[in-house]
Amino acid sequence: MEMEMLILYVLILFSSLYYVFGMLIGTNNGSCRLRRGTKNEHEVHQLPPGSTGWPIIGEGLAFLMTAKRGAPENFIAERRIKYSQNKSSSCKVFTTSLLRESVAVLCSAAGNKFLFSNENKLVKSWWPDNIDTIFPTSEKTNSADASIRLRKVLSPFLSPDSLRKHLGIMDTVAKHHLDVFWSHQKQVKVLSLTKKYTFVLVCKIFLNVEDPQVIAKLEEPMQHIAAGFISLPINLPGTTFNRAIRSAKQVKKEIEEIVRQRRIDLDQHASPGDENSRHHKADLLSKLLMGTYSDGQPIKDTDISNELNGLFIAAYDNVFITLCSIIMYLSEYPQVYDAVLKEQMEIADSKAHGELLCLEDIQKMKYLWSVACEVLRLEPPNPGTFREAISDFVYEGYLIPKGMKLYWSVFSTHKNPDYFLDPEKFDPSRFEGGGPAPYSYVPFGGGPRMCPGREYARFTMLVFLHNLVTRFKWEKVFPDEKMVMNPFPLPTKGLPVRLYPHHPSSSSSL
Ligand code: HEM
Repeated sequence: MEMEMLILYVLILFSSLYYVFGMLIGTNNGSCRLRRGTKNEHEVHQLPPGSTGWPIIGEGLAFLMTAKRGAPENFIAERRIKYSQNKSSSCKVFTTSLLRESVAVLCSAAGNKFLFSNENKLVKSWWPDNIDTIFPTSEKTNSADASIRLRKVLSPFLSPDSLRKHLGIMDTVAKHHLDVFWSHQKQVKVLSLTKKYTFVLVCKIFLNVEDPQVIAKLEEPMQHIAAGFISLPINLPGTTFNRAIRSAKQVKKEIEEIVRQRRIDLDQHASPGDENSRHHKADLLSKLLMGTYSDGQPIKDTDISNELNGLFIAAYDNVFITLCSIIMYLSEYPQVYDAVLKEQMEIADSKAHGELLCLEDIQKMKYLWSVACEVLRLEPPNPGTFREAISDFVYEGYLIPKGMKLYWSVFSTHKNPDYFLDPEKFDPSRFEGGGPAPYSYVPFGGGPRMCPGREYARFTMLVFLHNLVTRFKWEKVFPDEKMVMNPFPLPTKGLPVRLYPHHPSSSSSL
C-alpha cells in the first residue's frame, strides 16, 4: 500500500506539472466542451458538459475520495448541480474522466432506462482495463454473443424453480455455520463470518465441493481479486493490482483442476443408475458439463472454467457484502429487527421440528426482503457498470460519439430526493405496495444484462437471515462503526458484535 501511495504522489506531481504547463501554453483548458459535427452538416451537437480533470488520473481521485468519505453519491450529485442549465432543469448527463477514459455519466431514471433498453443497439457492455487485465477478455461475458450464450446456460440453473431444490442445502449450510461459528460465542466479527458462509455455500451449490482444504485454496486468493478492480493499474510485486492478477490466475487454476477431475468422475460413472453420478448432478458444474450451447454443441471445459471464475466473484462479493450491511442495519434499528423477528418466528413456528425451509417460506419473508431491498438502496455492493457507444448518437441534445464510454450508477437515483423522499432515511416501507418508480431502483442493473444471480442472492440471504434472527439478537461493539466504500461498502472495523442468544443452547433444531 505504501508503495502505491508513493506512486500515486509521483503521478499527482507529474499531473500537476503537466496541467500547469498545459495551461501556460494553452493546450489544456480543463474542459471537454468540444464541438463535433454529426452526419447532418447543419446539426452540431456538443459533448455533454463536464471536466476531464487531471491528466492520467482524470477525476478518478475525486471519485474515490467521495466514496472513502462515505458519501459516494456526492460525486454525481455535485456535478449534477454544477452542470444544470438552470434550477428547474437538472443535468441528465455529464462528462467525466475515469480509468483513463472519457465517460458520459447518465444520471436519471430515464438515463438508466435508455442504457438498459439500448443494449446491443446503441451501446454494448464495456469493462475497464483493470478488469480486463485481471480477467482477460476471452474469459469474460464481454461480447453480446458470449453473454447470450452464458444466459441461456445459466438461466435454468438460477431460476427460482431450480433454486427451490437447493433451499434445503442452503438451510442446512446456514444452520451448520451458525452452530460452528456463532453458537457459544459472546462476540463475533460479522464481516469474516458472512464471507465464510457465502463462500462455503457457493462452493457447495456451484461445484458440490465440501472439502475444507479445497475451499481454503479457492477462498484465500478470492479475497484479493475485487480490490484490484479499481486499484492503480500498477503491475509490480507488492501492489494491490499485482496481487489481484496473481490471485485470479490461482483461482482459475484451481477451478480448472476441479472441472478436469469432475469430467473424469462423470465419464466414469456415466450410467443413469449410478449413485455417484446422481449425487453430483444437481450442482451447476455438473449441469454445465452435461449441457450444450443452443446450437447443440457441448460446452467446452475451458469455457466452463471461465464462466465459473466470473460467477464465483459475482456471487461471493455481492452477497457477503450485502449480508454484512443488513446485519449492521438490523443492529442499528431495533424496531426493524423486532418486526423481522416477529415475521421470521411465525415462519419458524409453522415448521415441524427439523423441517427445512421451502419456497413457500421464502415467499412469506416479505418484510425481511423489504429490509434487504432498503439496504441495497443505501449500500449497493455493485454501484454501477459501464457501456460503450456502438455508434454516434444524441442523448438529451448532446453528442455521444462512437467508442465513448457511458456509466450508469445506482447513486444517480437511489439517493436522489427526486425519486426517494428523504433519501438518507432507512425506511423499508418504501418497498411495500407499488414500490419505487420504474428504473429508479436498480441494485441489480437492468435490461438484457440485468444480474442473473438476483434470485440466488435473494434465497441465500433470506435463508441465512432467517436462521440468524430466530437464534440471536446482537449489538455493535463499536456503536459508531460505519460502512465505507473501499472499493465496496465494508464496515471499517469488520463489524464485531456482541451476541445475545434467544435460547441458552442456541443450537439449531436439526
Ligand atoms: C446482492 C447481490 C448482487 C447484486 C447487488 C448484484 C448486482 C449486479 C449488477 C449491478 C450487475 C450489472 C448489471 C448491468 O450491467 O446492467 C450484475 C451483473 C452480474 N451478476 Fe450480479 N449481483 C448480485 C449477486 C449475484 C450472484 C449471486 C450472481 C451469481 C450467481 C451474480 C452474477 C452476475 C453476472 C454473471 C453478471 C454479469 C451479467 C452480464 O454481464 O450479462 N450476481 N450484478
